[in-house]
Amino acid sequence: MSDIKPENAAIVRRIEEKYSALGQDSTSYMKGFSYQRPVTYWDYVEVDTLLSLQKPRTDYPDEPIFIMYHQVTELLLKLIVHEIDQVVEADGVEADFFRVKMERVNRYAGILTQSFSVMREGMDYEQYNEFRLALAPASGFQSAQFRFIELKCTDVPLLLNHRVKGKMGAEAGFDALFNEMYWLDAGLDRKTGKKTQTLQMFLDRYLDAFKRCAVKMESRNLYTQFRKISSSAPGYEALKKSLRDFDHTYNVIWPLAHLKTAEYYLNSKGEGKAATGGSEWQKYLHPSYQRRIFFPDLWTKEELENWGNF
Ligand code: HEM
Repeated sequence: MSDIKPENAAIVRRIEEKYSALGQDSTSYMKGFSYQRPVTYWDYVEVDTLLSLQKPRTDYPDEPIFIMYHQVTELLLKLIVHEIDQVVEADGVEADFFRVKMERVNRYAGILTQSFSVMREGMDYEQYNEFRLALAPASGFQSAQFRFIELKCTDVPLLLNHRVKGKMGAEAGFDALFNEMYWLDAGLDRKTGKKTQTLQMFLDRYLDAFKRCAVKMESRNLYTQFRKISSSAPGYEALKKSLRDFDHTYNVIWPLAHLKTAEYYLNSKGEGKAATGGSEWQKYLHPSYQRRIFFPDLWTKEELENWGNF
């Protein structure tokens, strides 16, 4: 060891201790380290893989914009899930830790709303209305991360349609509650009232996973975690503000930006085109119809009554 720098010798000792505690041969691991290729940006970020994930269904030059912006959205949703998971997995979560995570979540949600102009203004109207016809019955409605975020944020009884919300609680059981999820309203055919293929395929693919998530989150979603914190705890008011900000951005500002875009492409001449998912979208997509509110205790009676209009 005489020609090894003292600081490196200390590191080697730590590695030996680490692997011997695990009953492993540290020499093999150290050989492995010495064989490793230098890290490159393109391998680490998986640039080639990432840039190979755009597979347009038509030759319209604006279709890749549509695909990539959805992919960017899914990555931002994944960043949101990543932060929320650290709060819902924590036992005895503290207000300051919770707030820091929510501020990150709000930063990502802010990017989602500010950047939605990529959809509204960044594609050619005519092209969009052609290439979208090749995409049915797919719809952003089928974004599973969007639904997982809801389940990680709040109680299932708060995600029901307005006809039964407040009348059905957890005692009804997940099967009954899931039959009344607010988003099923988008999955009914405008003419027949039956489940659309868009909805049926989505349920076949994800319903079990949604139910498993709901069971796990019942006692630890963000709303539940918040209610475990005493209102006299340091940082409580700042946490409350960060949760209100998220509720408003995710459940009012983003839906309105999204609806405005749908109105532009599908109804600017008052023609009320059918969406790829087949929903009664003009009614359904408005936040005042959905009334999706993750943290109702944090809003005044007046704010709740005007949900979607401020
Ligand atoms: C030109 C752009 C867009 C248009 C015209 C549009 C239109 C629509 C329409 C009409 C619906 C109702 C369901 C249906 O019948 O298909 C819907 C649902 C949805 N879309 Fe989009 N969309 C666009 C972009 C996006 C983007 C970029 C995302 C990001 C992932 C997205 C995510 C969603 C989600 C999550 C829903 C379900 C909303 C809910 O249940 O509240 N959409 N979209």
